[in-house]
Amino acid sequence: MQPLFYGLEGVVEETLKVTAPKESEKRVHITIESEKPDKKDTIEVFLGYSDDEKIFWEPGKLNNGHFIIIGGSGAGKTETIRCIASELDKQGYPVLMVDFHGDMACEGCNIRTCEIKEGSKYYFNPLELDPKFEEITPLKATADFVDSIFINFPTLGIQQRNDLKEIVKRAYKKAGITSDKETWSRELKFKEIEDEIKSSEDKTTQSLKAYLNDIFDYELFSGSEKISVGSILEGGITHLNLRPLPESLKSLYADLFLRKIYYSLQALGEIPRGNITDKERFRLFVIVDEAKLLVSEKQGYKAVLNKYATELRKFGVGLILASQLISHFTDEILSNVAVKLCMKAENKEQARKNDKFFGVGEKELLNLKQGEGILIIGEEKVKLRIIPTWERI
Ligand SMILES: Nc1ncnc2c1ncn2[C@@H]1O[C@H](COP(=O)(O)OP(=O)(O)O)[C@@H](O)[C@H]1O
Ligand SMILES: [Mg+2]
Repeated sequence: MQPLFYGLEGVVEETLKVTAPKESEKRVHITIESEKPDKKDTIEVFLGYSDDEKIFWEPGKLNNGHFIIIGGSGAGKTETIRCIASELDKQGYPVLMVDFHGDMACEGCNIRTCEIKEGSKYYFNPLELDPKFEEITPLKATADFVDSIFINFPTLGIQQRNDLKEIVKRAYKKAGITSDKETWSRELKFKEIEDEIKSSEDKTTQSLKAYLNDIFDYELFSGSEKISVGSILEGGITHLNLRPLPESLKSLYADLFLRKIYYSLQALGEIPRGNITDKERFRLFVIVDEAKLLVSEKQGYKAVLNKYATELRKFGVGLILASQLISHFTDEILSNVAVKLCMKAENKEQARKNDKFFGVGEKELLNLKQGEGILIIGEEKVKLRIIPTWERI
């Protein structure tokens, strides 16, 4: 049998069932219902139908738990995300939704929405350290924070970046936090940075203030209810609703938050190797709708998803990303994502761009209905109709 996945030859025959091509269409089923193994510890996400056959996504049987959804506005990406999130939740897997538009929440699922808006109670502190996370020293946290600010305010000059770095370093020192791990349980409040910048008469610092004012005004990194990684990993769907924030703060917030998640999982160590259950394999599914805000090329290799997407698998993360164009994703991300779903294109230009990658035909992409898509695993493709949440029991 010809391998269906690149580099996955050994696994393929167990996971994919191929039926004889019908009407010149080659069809692949991730799993046909009647052939599903009767095992409770594997994830089986019901997606929808291909003709009258049920199609499931079984991330534990693939190379990784990553999934990319492409399609024009109104194609059904967000609805597909709601379906996947509720299925994962039902099966007991924690989900984090990063929601730039504020429309990802699913009804009737176990969801905890944290609306991030001006002065909202929910917060996290990007400068907080933890003695458990040895690699995140005050210097590393400072560099990361400045990187993230720079990615999101790319016109920030080198002097302003250096200035910010020095301010954060001094603030750690002032708070008694040094390279000694014993001091890392002390917290550097973001307010300290704000006060320092606001009260400075230095010209560079004053120009820096113009960039950071939104962060201060929205009180992004302070509040009364901390969004802790621990509670996210405990279960349910944590829904970060970033809709109320201005564009530049949305991506900054998501960028810093995902870094925090990454470091926390890194501290938990890699998932075990060998024959493991899906519960051991997947600690968290992270879903980002409109992911282009986090992967766009202008952010280069430093953008959080560009930087960590390929490594997230070994720390137990399945990444589900939706965007309009395949070109929003770097080649590295694309080659590390096991499953892609290409939904309806909005116009010819979009169809042309997406078809360059998917090769199913521009017309085919334009003619798809809402909720329909071409599911692609390796070289195999199947046309699929996602069953929306309102048609599920
Ligand atoms: N699986 C589906 N089956 C039927 N209709 C759907 C499906 N998914 C989406 N739709 C319809 O398409 C509209 C747009 O869906 P949405 O998920 O918001 O698209 P996108 O996120 O791609 O812009 C929905 O309001 C719904 O009416
Ligand atoms: Mg949408």
